[in-house]
Amino acid sequence: MYGFKPKYAKRSILLLAVLVIIIVAWYYLPRPFFIMLAATAAVLGMIAGFARNAWSQTGDDSRRPSQAGVVRQKRDRKSRSSRRVEVLHPEATVSLSEERREADIEEVFTSLDNQLVGLLPVKKKVEEIASLLLVDRVRHRFGLEAPRPNLHMCFTGEPGTGKTTVALQMADLLYRLGYLEKGHLVHAMRDDLVGEYIGHTAPKTKRILERAMGGVLFIDEAYYLYRPGDSKDYGQECIDILLQVMENDRDKLLVILAGYKDRMDVFFESNPGMHSRIAHHLDFAPYKLDELVAIGRAMLDRSAYYLSPDAEMAFREYLTLRMAQPRFANARSVRNELERARLRHAFRLAAEPELDRTRDDLMRLEEADILASPLFSLAESMSAVEESARRLQRPTAS
Ligand SMILES: Nc1ncnc2c1ncn2[C@@H]1O[C@H](COP(=O)(O)OP(=O)(O)O)[C@@H](O)[C@H]1O
Ligand SMILES: [Mg+2]
Repeated sequence: MYGFKPKYAKRSILLLAVLVIIIVAWYYLPRPFFIMLAATAAVLGMIAGFARNAWSQTGDDSRRPSQAGVVRQKRDRKSRSSRRVEVLHPEATVSLSEERREADIEEVFTSLDNQLVGLLPVKKKVEEIASLLLVDRVRHRFGLEAPRPNLHMCFTGEPGTGKTTVALQMADLLYRLGYLEKGHLVHAMRDDLVGEYIGHTAPKTKRILERAMGGVLFIDEAYYLYRPGDSKDYGQECIDILLQVMENDRDKLLVILAGYKDRMDVFFESNPGMHSRIAHHLDFAPYKLDELVAIGRAMLDRSAYYLSPDAEMAFREYLTLRMAQPRFANARSVRNELERARLRHAFRLAAEPELDRTRDDLMRLEEADILASPLFSLAESMSAVEESARRLQRPTAS
């Protein structure tokens, strides 16, 4: 569909080779033999053409070879259109739980619950979207056709609040429900989509769109696509292509825009066309201290570690300090710090190699493993500096 295609290059080379063979044969073969050979080749070519045409008309999409770059290769499920052909009798009954079981979506919700602490409004929205598609599937069984719902989405929230994780689960869910053909996710940012000179942007954007077809295109920090006031910027060209594809190919692709809420709002103000194509807005709230601690506990639990009671107190203190620091990234900061704590724990055990260690010793992170973070010493020196500054400012008694 877009840009240079190796398929067409191969065809041109093949045609050229055939032409060369015909010219060589015309010169070197006796004329009657050449005519007989050409007639046989033409008849065989016509038969092959007819057979191929008939095959492509009877075969369904799933028989065609898959595209390159597909992350998830589950090809056993049938797409929404080819799923069931027999229409149910109007008096027949169907239970949604049976349909849910058949679509095998319970696994996605279990995984969402296990992977993500809290995020209840987001999980509820995912449930709502699943219900819409589930009812759509059942209606389809009764022959009740409706246009495919628009599901382009916008995920807003601070870094590390679970946007990418939910997008991956969403891709899986929509694939299981037959909404997406492949269900893979292509992650893209401005640099993947927008070029730096004339004629560079369209092929770049189209290449990414082609990779994402059948799945989800997740555009992180989508507002960077648009640079108001920069006349040399090609972002608008990319946005125009996206708008067109979001409208015309919405049965093949789902677009999720992601980023900070306030910047996304400004982006939508300047790009109302984009706003009108987004059907669902999901807001990922920043985590509170208790949620961050619970996230840390769940992360450690999954890797068979845990915090001793003193370590948990220290970890709370660490998080309180870290939340006030620049570049705090919610659950990602929790994950990174716990990885560093695991490193300190291992180093602490390895420092006394002659000691016998129990299974519990290998699982338990101690207060020292948390307190060794440089953030505590940094906070101490900061408060010392603040204290001396305050003393200097204090008026002296005259
Ligand atoms: N609610 C949560 N519970 C547990 N882990 C979480 C939660 N939210 C995010 N994470 C973890 O934090 C990390 C960053 O999440 P991610 O989805 O990449 O965030 P974002 O895309 O919003 O920056 C991932 O390892 C993810 O599993
Ligand atoms: Mg992300």
